[in-house]
Parts: sequence; C-alpha cells; structure tokens
Amino acid sequence: MRAIDIIAKKRDGLTLTKAEIAWFVDAYSRDSIPDYQAAAFLMAVYIRGMAREETVNLTLAMAHSGDVLDLSDVIGYAVDKHSSGGVGDKTSLVVLPLVASCGVPVAKMSGRGLGFSGGTLDKLESIAGYNVNLSDEEFRRLAKENGIVLSGQSKQLAPADGKFYALRDVTATVPSLPLIASSIMSKKIAAGANGIVLDVKAGRGAFMPTVESARELARVMVDIGVDAGRDMIAVISDMNQPLGSAVGNALEVAESIEILRGAGPADFREHCLQVAGYMLQLAGQGQRWTDPAEVRTLLENQLANGQAFAKFRQLVSAQGGDVRMVDDPSKLPQARIVEPFVAAQSGYIAQMDAQEIALAAFELGAGREKKGDPIDPAIGVKVYVKVGDQVDSGAPLVTIYANDESKLPACRAYLERAVGYSNSPVEPLPLFYDTIYGDREPGYA
Ligand code: URA
Repeated sequence: MRAIDIIAKKRDGLTLTKAEIAWFVDAYSRDSIPDYQAAAFLMAVYIRGMAREETVNLTLAMAHSGDVLDLSDVIGYAVDKHSSGGVGDKTSLVVLPLVASCGVPVAKMSGRGLGFSGGTLDKLESIAGYNVNLSDEEFRRLAKENGIVLSGQSKQLAPADGKFYALRDVTATVPSLPLIASSIMSKKIAAGANGIVLDVKAGRGAFMPTVESARELARVMVDIGVDAGRDMIAVISDMNQPLGSAVGNALEVAESIEILRGAGPADFREHCLQVAGYMLQLAGQGQRWTDPAEVRTLLENQLANGQAFAKFRQLVSAQGGDVRMVDDPSKLPQARIVEPFVAAQSGYIAQMDAQEIALAAFELGAGREKKGDPIDPAIGVKVYVKVGDQVDSGAPLVTIYANDESKLPACRAYLERAVGYSNSPVEPLPLFYDTIYGDREPGYA
C-alpha cells in the first residue's frame, strides 16, 4: 500500500478499509510515513469525517499500536471511567475508592491537565510521595491485592495516539469527532477496560461547548466501545460552572476527602453517586445492582460508614503517599495568601463561567502552559455559589488561594468576567443532560 493513495481516497470522501487504516497507523507508528503525509491524512479526516466502521477501525489500530493490558487474571471484569475534561472535576478521586469499597476492583490509568482542564495525576501529586509512575508489575500487584490502583499511563499504551495527538495539536485538526473519539477510546481499550462509563462534559468549561456536540461525541464513543465488544454507558454532564467548589490541585484533593467522609458540596456528591452507580451497573453485568435505588443506598452507606474513605487511604498508602495528609487535609500544601472575592451587586447568579474560573486559577499557577511546566499544588479558587443562587452585594462568592501577590489583579479580572448577575430569578443548571447506553446488555465477553 502507499500512503498517498490512502490520503487521496479520504480526500475524495471514500470509505477506507480496515486494512488501509491498520496499514497507515502501523506505518506512521514505525516512522515509515513522514509527518507531512500523516498531517494530510488527518486534515482529510477532519474535513471528510469517518463512517462508524472507519472510526472503530482507527480506534482499534491505535489501541493495538502498543501494549494492550489484559487484567482478566487479576481483577476479572475491569470497569473504568473517563471524563472528557472539566473545571473542578475531581470525580475519579471519589468514585474509584467508592466503587472499590463495594468490592468492585478498579485499576485506572489517568492523565495530566490539558489546557485549562485539570488532570487527576496532578491532583494526586499534591499528596507528598504519591507515586504515579508504577511499573506494569506494581500496577497489576496493587490491582490484585487492594482492588484499587491509580497511576499514570504507561508509554507503551496506544503510542500511535500520542504521535497523532501531537501532530493534531499543530495542524488545526484537534476538534474532529472521529479523531477525538478514537483518541480517547484507543487509550481506554488499550488499558484493558471491559466496561467504560464516559462522562462527557458540555458547556463553557468543556471541550464540547454545546449539549448537542457533547451528545454526538458520546454517541460516537459509545458506538466504538460497543463495536469493540465493551459495555458502555455515557453521561452528558454540565460544565458551564465548576463542579463542586474547589478548583486547584490540593484544594480538589481536600474537597474529595470531604465527600469521602460523607460531607462536601451537594452537586459534586450527586455527580459522584451517579457516575459510581453506572460503574456498579456495568460491573454487575446485568445481574447484580440492577435496582438504582438499591445502588444508591449502598453507595451512600459507603460514604457514611467510612469504607470509601478507608479505600482512598489504602490507595494513597500503597502508592507511597503521605496518609497524614489524607487524615488531616490541612497538612496538604497550603497557599500563603487567602483572599475573598465578593459580589459586586445584589441579585441572582446568572453565570459562573467555568472557563473564566479556570483561567483565574491558571493565572495563579494552577495549570501548565506547556508540557512539563511546574504547577503550584497549593493555589486555586473555591467557588461558593451556583447559577440560580441569590446573593447580596458584598457577599463572598469565591476564595482566592495564591502564593504570589502580583498575580492577584489578573486573577480578579477573570473572576469578574466569570460572574453574571440578573435582577430576576434564574433557573439552576442541571447536573446531567442525558444518559446514553450501549446497545448491548452489559456482561457479554
Ligand atoms: N482527550 C484525548 O485523549 N484526545 C483527544 O483528542 C481529546 C481529548
């Protein structure tokens, strides 16, 4: 085969065969296709799109470009979750121990922050000593012994995606539905998941700005998973305002611990209960945990009786983290400067723009501008109001946690842009917009 023929075929809007896609991905992974031809291919896909079976074939080719983890000998059925990225989204820190505490093992590989959305690894690293670089053997051993492990992605996992992603980033081909969907799903499939709950965010702080575009992405990813033999559920959740209150790494760990101890912000708690419920539903393989009310009671109990918290403690301890920080979150990195940001007027909150909030935290040093940049785990913001809340002028809306006085004016400017007021009542935003189920019963191999 020749790269030029495959590029021309896609350029002309024709459907590529499985063999053509597999050949192209394999040749590019082995550096026998140059970047300029891969870039032309990506642009052709961006413009022409892909049929369902092409997207599945692209995903499987990328998933098999490196190691494919098989966890069946250590945990049997592997259930995973993936968030498309958001602001204040620390859901994994809660749902993994929560689900594991119900006797369902979880072995997850997570990523770092991308753009203004935070990453689970960065959050966990605010706990001193926590090791995100486990060897394959350690990963498998902890999954088997403790039923919970949470580390970084091995370099051998879907390496073709790493190459394509870097090229997409510089060729204006990131926002393509088949390319995003295959990128995410190739990593999930390579990480050994049998059942996957996708949390696709929609709104100002999300990759997908509208519910429709998030639904479309979710549908494509669910279809890929189903065609690849996985059990799938996707939720479309709101990301117009931050999830919970904390935005910033150590602050988000502390807030997750609050939830695991039975307290914490109501919206974030509810989000975690829903996502964990879907994970149990998949892990129950259509036989256990079919009654949503029963699942809910079980999960609420695990938060109330300390079992979910104990599982988180076990996770941190097993990966070398300082559990004293878990037992007493005031020992997590703390910012030197703590300042309020107050309401400029009385009224109803009409907007608490997640993207502007993220940029406010980013300005203080909570995120990276480029790969490898250091981040300050202590800093960030806590947001106390939600869209629809009524506030009085001068009421505290946000607390700023900073380590550098000179960053405060720019941070405040972002916060001012984030908040919108209305004189008349405003409807609260929903937490979820939709749930999309894979069209096969959970549990088939
Ligand atoms: N996350 C990914 O892993 N890939 C994309 O293309 C977009 C988000």
